[in-house]
Amino acid sequence: MHSPTPLINLHGFEAAAADLLPRMVYDYYAGGANDELLLRTSRTAWSDRALRYRVLRDVAVRSQRTTVLGHEVDWPVFVAPMAFQQLAHADGEVATAQAAQDTGAGMILSTLSNRTIEAVRAGTTGPLWFQLYIYRDRGVTAELVQRAERAGCTALVLTVDAPLLGRRERDLLNGFHLPPEVSVPNLGGTLRQTLAGGHESTVQADAAPTDTTASALAEFFAQHWDSSISWRDLAWLQSITTLPILVKGVVRGDDAVLALEHGAAGVIVSNHGGRQLDTAIPTARALPEVAAAMAGRGTLLVDGGIRRGTDVLKALAMGAQAVLLGRPVLWGLAVNGRKGARQVLQLLKDECDLALGLAGCRSLAEVTGDLLE
Ligand code: GLV
Repeated sequence: MHSPTPLINLHGFEAAAADLLPRMVYDYYAGGANDELLLRTSRTAWSDRALRYRVLRDVAVRSQRTTVLGHEVDWPVFVAPMAFQQLAHADGEVATAQAAQDTGAGMILSTLSNRTIEAVRAGTTGPLWFQLYIYRDRGVTAELVQRAERAGCTALVLTVDAPLLGRRERDLLNGFHLPPEVSVPNLGGTLRQTLAGGHESTVQADAAPTDTTASALAEFFAQHWDSSISWRDLAWLQSITTLPILVKGVVRGDDAVLALEHGAAGVIVSNHGGRQLDTAIPTARALPEVAAAMAGRGTLLVDGGIRRGTDVLKALAMGAQAVLLGRPVLWGLAVNGRKGARQVLQLLKDECDLALGLAGCRSLAEVTGDLLE
């Protein structure tokens, strides 16, 4: 697809997608909570760390292959769980999962996907994990878990940083809703209805939208989310599944230890892409503390603001085994479906390879903490 923006890096894809997507959709994907300060610091926290690269190390042959939670991947990246991908492209999450597979990355499917778990599983042979929230209705939650298991997902990712929905002012202003042709087929009838098409903002252009009904997602959260969830619900989730559970949304060492003590297979250091608690700690600053507290126990992943191969290298040097890439994949999907998402992932993969070599590393095993200032 022709675009006046050079698609030379992940930023170029964002600019191109911003041109292509309806404002409501672009804002939903791009936006953060409140003043969106965390969106900015999530980026600068990575770029502020300097690399102490090694020289004369014969980096002619390099590999990024690694094993994450028992899955061999060609490079240390999973696509982050992101809702409503048919707003970017008709093929939605199937195309995203295929793009992940094309580059040898893994995929985490959002509970709020527009394509069914089964269709996504059938569309790819790559690693596929299922992201989950705990709904007030535990029956609905349990059904979803069983469905993900039956479909062949190999891990559950429990998002824990959203007991309440962050205040996304762009969505309130735009009256965010799903158009009628886009549905959330993994959810049961009642849950689906709140998000279903036809929701129109009741907000007047000149009125301040303070009411959650201005955003269909905020209304959905208010009706179905269980804000009372606590560590004991992790035990409950474990009691109904044999799949390993990763706890996503941790930014503190003590919480990471609690997750392990409650039987989680690992944690994902994340602040929900700056969409929940604004001015929270950026993940690049939280990761070292979490890595130290976990001391090599369990799987440790991170997301938030990763846009360059050097960011990935730094995350690994801080102790993560892999990273999650979020919004840029949606920008690629918006620009050109599976091919666009693949291009985004391939750009980052090539950047990672270059960063690895220029830092004097031949493999991920050689990426150690001393690479950071
Ligand atoms: C959904 O989880 C969102 O962050 O919009």
